[in-house]
Amino acid sequence: MNNIYERHVFVCTSGKTCPKKGPVEDILGLMRQEIKSRGLKDKIRINKSGCLDWCDSGPVMVCYPEGVWYTNIQLEDVPQILEEHIINGKPVERLVYKPEKE
Ligand code: FES
Repeated sequence: MNNIYERHVFVCTSGKTCPKKGPVEDILGLMRQEIKSRGLKDKIRINKSGCLDWCDSGPVMVCYPEGVWYTNIQLEDVPQILEEHIINGKPVERLVYKPEKE
């Protein structure tokens, strides 16, 4: 099956730093479980990723097609990110990484 996903999420689970900074496997597992239980596996893909080069801000994930980054993810933030952004397309502004202005 060659799906073009509506939303594609990469969670850093196998970099050297993120797994030491938070429960990356639990974050990934919760996301996958929710997507599966809602029957959204054909529309939304949750992938493991290696280092995304944002190690100091881990755990991190990036969501496409928006290219929105979430940093310092806490497990308790995952349901809101899932519901509002991953499933309904509205990034959770309070958690979105915002670069400092130069
Ligand atoms: S180890 Fe996760 S971004 Fe580098």
